[in-house]
Amino acid sequence: MNQLQITCPDDWHVHLRDGEMLRQVAPYTARQFARAIVMPNLQPPVTTVRQAVEYVDRIVAAVGDSPFEPLMTLYLTDDTSAEEIILAHKSCFVKAVKLYPAGATTNSSAGVSDIRKCDAALAAMQELGLPLLVHGEVTAAEVDVFDREAVFIQQVLMPLMNRFPKLKIVFEHITTADAVEFVLNTGLNIGATITPHHLLWNRNAMFKGGLRPHHYCLPVLKREQHRQALLYAATSGHRKFFLGTDSAPHNRSSKESGCGCAGIFSAHAAIEIYATIFEQQNALDKLEAFASFNGPDFYGLNRNTDIITLEKSPWVVPESYPLADGESLIPMLAGETINWKLIK
Ligand code: NCD
Ligand code: ZN
Repeated sequence: MNQLQITCPDDWHVHLRDGEMLRQVAPYTARQFARAIVMPNLQPPVTTVRQAVEYVDRIVAAVGDSPFEPLMTLYLTDDTSAEEIILAHKSCFVKAVKLYPAGATTNSSAGVSDIRKCDAALAAMQELGLPLLVHGEVTAAEVDVFDREAVFIQQVLMPLMNRFPKLKIVFEHITTADAVEFVLNTGLNIGATITPHHLLWNRNAMFKGGLRPHHYCLPVLKREQHRQALLYAATSGHRKFFLGTDSAPHNRSSKESGCGCAGIFSAHAAIEIYATIFEQQNALDKLEAFASFNGPDFYGLNRNTDIITLEKSPWVVPESYPLADGESLIPMLAGETINWKLIK
């Protein structure tokens, strides 16, 4: 099979940033995805519908005349009110609310200190059917970094589900067999996104021949057995698992630093990387469900009607993309070959 046609995909988790970085990266997402759930962890974070409206305008300006539709999220804080949730629901373009445990990842210092402080907002979300997107890691210093997701399931997610049994929850960028099992054993109101990097790499990738900052993201890469569980989930065709790149650009000097930022930029080639992975798993026939059907079905949105065409035509990813002020952006698989290419 040298060509593959699928319904136009969506990215259910992306960081588009702001300012110059937004202008640089948004066209890559718009090139291949009809829609994307845009993360709100700007500085300051997007906590209100008013801020989300302004951010939409900047995103639309950044993608020029592309028909790309940004789907916005609000950043949940200890103080998010039920009224803000009602406004978000009414806005029609805010599609979800994001939970960052305070201190879990990039720009999360304004995140939630104790999820029980958010009960009013969560009750309104449950009632209105507005999904909660969770960065599923506990932040307690005594919990091993590699165990943070599994502990989050026990300490935060299960109690949360018991208190709000009908709340729609997307367990974002899952990284462990524990998360796969958890999602498979819960009701249809619980879904999960899976990134290309967690499908392609295990934690050895961060240490191959030296410290590899461009393989560092949060949640951090895990053991091979966990990667295998993610591959199984993504290529199973199961409706609860869908595409979310977590493409998270940082400029090169912030990554290659004494204290490097977490985040992997994959928007330059996301659907092509997923296609390459699915082919390696002999599961190209499951790509469309994962990339184009399961996400909109979970969110209660229409599936896209356009078609994209991928061709088996190996190409080499640039070593870097230039940014202003002599900075650059190092993409996922920089300098390496990807087997599939998006042609239209
Ligand atoms: C993200 C970022 O840089 O905004 N980083 C990452 O490693 N994924 C934040 C996040 O999603 O955790
Ligand atoms: Zn993210």
